[in-house]
Amino acid sequence: MKRRTLIVSSLGAATGAGIAIASHYQNQQQQQQPPFSQERQKEHGIARFAVTEKTSLRERAASQGLIYGAAASYQPLRANLEFAQRFAQECAILVPTNELKWQILRPTPDQFDFRRSDWMARFAQKHNMLFRGHTLVWYQALPQWFKETVNRKNAERILTDHITTVVKHYAGNMHSWDVVNEAIAPNGSKDGLRQTPWLRFLGADYIEMAFRTAAAADPQALLVYNDNNLEYDNPKTEAKRSRVLKLLERLKSKRVPIHALGIQSHIGASSQGFNAKKLRSFLKEVASLGLKIFITEMDVLEKNLLELENRDAIIAGVYQDYLSLVLDEPAVNTVITWGLSDRYTWAANFAPRQDGAPVRPLPLDTQLERKLAWNAIALAFDQAPPR
Ligand code: XIL
Repeated sequence: MKRRTLIVSSLGAATGAGIAIASHYQNQQQQQQPPFSQERQKEHGIARFAVTEKTSLRERAASQGLIYGAAASYQPLRANLEFAQRFAQECAILVPTNELKWQILRPTPDQFDFRRSDWMARFAQKHNMLFRGHTLVWYQALPQWFKETVNRKNAERILTDHITTVVKHYAGNMHSWDVVNEAIAPNGSKDGLRQTPWLRFLGADYIEMAFRTAAAADPQALLVYNDNNLEYDNPKTEAKRSRVLKLLERLKSKRVPIHALGIQSHIGASSQGFNAKKLRSFLKEVASLGLKIFITEMDVLEKNLLELENRDAIIAGVYQDYLSLVLDEPAVNTVITWGLSDRYTWAANFAPRQDGAPVRPLPLDTQLERKLAWNAIALAFDQAPPR
């Protein structure tokens, strides 16, 4: 009974706030750019975020042939039973936020500590969820000992040992692995690769080495190249998209075992909107290489958003605009948010609001109730062309 009242009132809020927001968001779009949001606006009018059933995101996604899930950390999943239940209800895939990064898995050069990630893998299995690995090769989240220990001479052995051990540990139980994360430079640098210890020690081939090693350790897991800042319409982002595309083309032409591109999708709530044409054609080109596309870390960040009162609807608007755009591409078959509830979000520390108000980037609020962002995601799934 309580649940029903809550959902009905949240629908009321959705419709009411929709009016204010529709015009706020539209104004923003008119001043700044593209026609996309305005089209959507007309299409859905003020009922933009109204959803009529309680069906979970997991089920809504599944009925269109999509997978929806989220990242979570060991601690809250273990300690907060209500959160764990809500997670299992909404999500068909679980990604450990940090537990499979070197920093946590590798306390010393000779040790692997799988305790937390194993618990999470069991949790996923118990709740009939897929399990996804993030990430084998990254320039961040490296342990203290890395700097003193890894050098040109031993880097290849250390990297391939790490990948082989970790991937074998979960072989047969892993939906997909982010094999390499954020290897393309945000700007500058000649060959487009980010300056990382791996590039310095091993040269550009470390990327294909990582994929080949992962494939040998688990021939079943889907192997993903994952990156950020690919979504917007500006020259820097466009350059990055074309570099990522070149990397993927190069890997495919060398028959490197790679199956998908992960687009992180940490989107600014005050972003200037997307260029539907450019983004679609990027997705098409990726798909034409025979790759799937996963939205891997979506959330909507408020660090540059001044608006406070209507932000839930603004954030929901960004979810709907972005997801409806990317879901038009049939190769996009997985959507993951970087967290499920505003109670546990990296954005609180990494992308706080300027006015210090708690951020609200995710589908559920801090009380684990569905909010407008949830409605927007639900709608985007309902309206997605079935896979
Ligand atoms: C973040 C986690 O959410 C934080 O808890 C951690 O302190 C830093 O890393 N891109 C990625 C993720 O690929 O691994 C990052 O996760 C967020 C940005």
